[in-house]
Amino acid sequence: MDPFATNLLTWFDSHGRKDLPWQHPRTPYRVWLSEIMLQQTQVRTVIPYFQRFVEALPTLESLAEASQDQVLALWSGLGYYSRARNLHACAKMCVERHAADLPSSLDDLAALPGIGRSTAAAILAQAHGQAHAILDGNVRRVLARHHGVHGWPGQARVQTELWRLSEAHLPQSRLADYTQAIMDLGATLCTRSKPRCADCPLQSQCIAHRDGLILALPTAKPGASRPTRSTTMMIARSDEGRILLERRGPTGVWARLWSLPECTDATAAGKFQTAGMQGEFATRRTLPAFTHAFSHFQLHITPVLLQVRGAATQICDDPDRAWFAEHELDSIGLPAPIRKLLNEVFRESSCEPSTA
Ligand code: ADE
Ligand code: SF4
Repeated sequence: MDPFATNLLTWFDSHGRKDLPWQHPRTPYRVWLSEIMLQQTQVRTVIPYFQRFVEALPTLESLAEASQDQVLALWSGLGYYSRARNLHACAKMCVERHAADLPSSLDDLAALPGIGRSTAAAILAQAHGQAHAILDGNVRRVLARHHGVHGWPGQARVQTELWRLSEAHLPQSRLADYTQAIMDLGATLCTRSKPRCADCPLQSQCIAHRDGLILALPTAKPGASRPTRSTTMMIARSDEGRILLERRGPTGVWARLWSLPECTDATAAGKFQTAGMQGEFATRRTLPAFTHAFSHFQLHITPVLLQVRGAATQICDDPDRAWFAEHELDSIGLPAPIRKLLNEVFRESSCEPSTA
């Protein structure tokens, strides 16, 4: 079997959510109601609403017969009230057209108001163990990262590829558990901003993890506004014109690339000293700030140029920290905006009168 599904199911057996109220009993009505409530709302918030709702309206028929006021009152506080109106309309349609049952075919279910292809698939997998792929926001994120799929998932090409991957991973059995497991993985481990890859059962085959693309995938909508982070980068330059660089850690967009030492602000930059460096900072000058756009955030970079006086360059014994001459920069992995910044610094210094 596909190791993706096997690993996910093994993880689910020890870490998945198995005591959610709609899993006991896992009837089509309860699964449907839960999936509609979960469309825009987190599990933790949904649980008390779900319990109140099924206590008041325990069957599809009772929902069909309820007044709209009662349905909206039970929904009150959950938000996105068109979900409640669609739910109510669905119940009435099922009573009229489907003998008071939810349809058990994907096309019939997805034809009902408020039920898209992914929600219909999630309902049928959980309620009847049918093998249908799902692709909600959580699953999109897991698959885009796991397979290194670039491009905004709102694009048809990307969407088609993600559906194909979702289908390709479906196991032969345990469809209800598998469906809950992949949603749980996205909701609890492979989260948008702080995925816990160390605990992830899919880590060993994950492209985003391997290539340091976790925060770059899935690709954000073009032109969408991105949050801004700020950093101060120290350009420590020795008397011989070498620059101090550090190799970045194993995660993040620039994982394992060489880059400039960073600190949070200019005050910290003033106190910047680095282990194993005996030189003194003779001068300090703040250079013009600029912004670099990543797919999920913008980085506002303030460079600070520090001229080091003294025997700085031989001292580094840390393999992830070294002094580089200009010509050496061509042969190391350096993020494009850092390369550009350093080229400007070298260009400027070659125009300066020599102080040596
Ligand atoms: N989001 C939508 N359906 C869900 C489910 N069954 N479990 C967790 N999150 C979900
Ligand atoms: Fe997501 Fe990390 Fe797991 Fe990859 S290894 S699927 S990025 S949590």
